[in-house]
Amino acid sequence: MTDKKTMRILSGIQPSGVLHIGNYFGMMRPAIALQAEGEAFYFIADYHALTSVRDPKTLRENSRLVALDFLACGLDPERGALFRQSHVPQVTELAWILSTIAPMGLLERAHSYKDKLARGLAATVGLFDYPVLMAADILIYDSDIVPVGKDQKQHIEIARDLAVKMNDTFGQIFKLPEPRIHTATEVVSGIDGQKMSKSYGNNIDIFGDEKEIRKRVMSIVTDSMPLEAPKDPSRSTIFQLYSLFASKDEIAEMRERFQRGGTGYGDFKKQLFEKLWEYFAPMRKRREEILANKTYIDNVLARGAEQANEIADQVMKRVRAAVGLG
Ligand code: ADP
Ligand code: TRP
Repeated sequence: MTDKKTMRILSGIQPSGVLHIGNYFGMMRPAIALQAEGEAFYFIADYHALTSVRDPKTLRENSRLVALDFLACGLDPERGALFRQSHVPQVTELAWILSTIAPMGLLERAHSYKDKLARGLAATVGLFDYPVLMAADILIYDSDIVPVGKDQKQHIEIARDLAVKMNDTFGQIFKLPEPRIHTATEVVSGIDGQKMSKSYGNNIDIFGDEKEIRKRVMSIVTDSMPLEAPKDPSRSTIFQLYSLFASKDEIAEMRERFQRGGTGYGDFKKQLFEKLWEYFAPMRKRREEILANKTYIDNVLARGAEQANEIADQVMKRVRAAVGLG
């Protein structure tokens, strides 16, 4: 077991769009909570985002927005490092080295690659190699724990496989990282009942404006049960989302009202909207405060990059020596 005090927690999030409540409950909230357990290294995966974002202005803007939203949601930059992936370019060198031992078959089995092709992304080498860069992200910081949503679990397994292969080939270089999947909210549903994802257009954004969020909540897809009929909470997206925000008693009360009948879905949606809006209110306030300080985000990212580079340089020295470079 790793000593808790020195445990390094690492995760990344792509700046490929505005963050939604699936990202919040699946990744950001658990990542923020984990800051209490060790040294957190969190980064904005801008190299990874190049596989789908082809507009430089958008990439730059989204990267800042992700940093802003993460900080607004409670990430404490004093308890670790927040940085941009591309501010540690050594990670691409490690990705190359890992790719020379990565079996094609391992990558061909990656669900996320197949899913992305199915969604219409171009089959580029970068997209195929995505898990190798992700393995480099993890291994270059000697990470112990990697908090992610369930869909990323296979990528962490690939990182472990590559670490084992490198260690077997060149001697002990890498620590083996453990995924940490937040089970209570493995998959947050979007307004159409499928997994919430910006690429499905079914997302409810964390910091969207009030009118837009209300509209999204009111358009959650339901069955066509009449108002008076008893309803099944376990199959309702409204109920699932409400359960993320409400207290135990509030959840029990909504469950009972579903089962009793006599309340229409429109009323439940309004109740969900109120709860969701109230939940993010302190974070909206914090976001305004951060925005008012023009240099805050840049300072946080610069400090984070410094910390990350220090560790990455040490690990790369080890790697280069082990494989015969340098
Ligand atoms: P998107 O699917 O919107 O493109 P990403 O793939 O960029 O989101 O995911 C960023 C992080 O948020 C990952 O750790 C992912 O597992 C988590 N995540 C994304 N969508 C959800 C969801 N609907 N439920 C739970 N976690 C999610
Ligand atoms: N692939 C992750 C996602 O889409 C983002 C990511 C890149 C990441 N590198 C990582 C997550 C390293 C954890 C660790 O969500």
